[in-house]
Amino acid sequence: MATKVLMVCLGNICRSPLAEGIMRKLTNDTDFLIDSAGTANYHVGAAPDHRSIAIAALYNIDISTQQARQLTPADIDAFDHILVMDEENLSNALALCTSETQRHKIALITSASEVEAYRIPDPYYGEADGFAHVYELLHDCCSNWLAKHTK
Ligand code: 4NP
Repeated sequence: MATKVLMVCLGNICRSPLAEGIMRKLTNDTDFLIDSAGTANYHVGAAPDHRSIAIAALYNIDISTQQARQLTPADIDAFDHILVMDEENLSNALALCTSETQRHKIALITSASEVEAYRIPDPYYGEADGFAHVYELLHDCCSNWLAKHTK
């Protein structure tokens, strides 16, 4: 059965859509089912930020048809792993949990890596090159995570 992995950030328009696109590119549909969500509802129904779409397109990844949605308690039961971008996402996701089993599913995406950054910085209010940096961090983190979780 496919391992179900949910990539989570705050708005589900910048970091986690990119993380979803990268994870899909690095995996196949038989072994992994990948999705993304945001802890907030600000952008529900929206396409990814144009800057995330652009940086993904540079690497031949099309994330333009994704639609933002909010993380729900049901997601935490449905997915095997919930990978969050930063500590704010971590505490927001943990707040939805009602059991140790659920809490154990949630981890920082950086946790499988020895990256300098302890988190994936939120690029929303920054310059465009923030998205290139986020792409590189996410690609490293996703590769490292998959290396540790592929049989
Ligand atoms: P994301 O970035 O969590 O990577 O999708 C953000 C997008 C929108 C907002 C914050 C972060 N916002 O405040 O609207």
